[in-house]
Amino acid sequence: MLTVDSHRQFPGLTNSDQLSDEVIRGQDVWHANNCINCHTILGEGAYYAPDLTKITQMRGAPYLTAFLKDPSQFYDEERHRRLMPNPNLDDDEISDLIAFMDWVANVDNQNWPPRPILVKGTSLPGADLSVAQQADKGEELPPGATPVSAGKDPVALGEVVFRSATPACTACHSIAPDVNMAGPTLAGLADRAEDIIDSSDYEGNAATAEEFIHESIVAPSAYLHPGEMYSAEGKSFMPATYGETLSSEELEHLVAYLASIK
Ligand code: HEC
Ligand code: HEC
Repeated sequence: MLTVDSHRQFPGLTNSDQLSDEVIRGQDVWHANNCINCHTILGEGAYYAPDLTKITQMRGAPYLTAFLKDPSQFYDEERHRRLMPNPNLDDDEISDLIAFMDWVANVDNQNWPPRPILVKGTSLPGADLSVAQQADKGEELPPGATPVSAGKDPVALGEVVFRSATPACTACHSIAPDVNMAGPTLAGLADRAEDIIDSSDYEGNAATAEEFIHESIVAPSAYLHPGEMYSAEGKSFMPATYGETLSSEELEHLVAYLASIK
């Protein structure tokens, strides 16, 4: 009965109605290039490189497109030691591959595998929240934990959003000086913001550091942080979805938090 029931659930859990031609072609690209010799998806594959089950949700298509064109732009051999070979894919193969990975990301894998190796700095939604942060999100606490809430302090509440937004800001940003990951460090952001607004090549609409930070979150391409690994063809690799997924209150807290980082 269990087997029969499992098979009955597959179409719903796997979104089989979303299996477009693009997704199928992308799966062929995935197989032809032996991505699985280094990576896992849905718990299958080799453990040399990060799990890619939810990669489209953590990185977004613009970033992945640039990464797959030339991975060496994103990893430096001295710092990372392991490098991904350039798969030499053309633009169609890359967009098919991303469609396939996005289909995989939307499979309801019921949290399997339980502890995948993630790309640096990323976490599964909610995974690295402190007890206080879990309490603030109204989540059930681990047994014996005392809820100490972030209370009403906008900076503390903003830090919760920084870790818990989807995808988490911590997937791409560090707040430590000089630590640049998929996105630039946010240390010293407020000071930098003032200089950017004053510079002659700034074309956005912000007049204050707070407005600049807000604009960077909801319209990442309004100003592009210098560096080839952050944007291509005038488009930021940062997801442009936060204006819709975060409430205005969450955005306000996030700006307060980021403006406080020296
Ligand atoms: C020879 C091993 C190897 C193969 C084959 C390989 N990769 Fe990778 N991949 C890596 C390594 C190593 C990293 C970087 C891991 C690190 O150090 O953080 C990586 C990282 C990635 C990332 C994460 C980038 C980021 O910063 O978020 C993606 C996406 C990715 N690979 C996709 C693919 C795809 C798609 C294929 C098949 C076309 C593939 N890889 C084939 C080794 C490999
Ligand atoms: C997939 C990776 C990614 C995620 C997730 C991400 N960012 Fe970014 N972010 C970037 C990249 C790349 C840039 C640099 C390009 C640009 O200027 O938009 C950037 C730029 C920024 C900047 C401007 C920095 C500067 O010096 O100009 C701010 C502020 C920022 N991000 C905040 C956030 C916040 C807050 C979140 C979470 C709500 C977030 N980011 C999530 C990749 C990401």
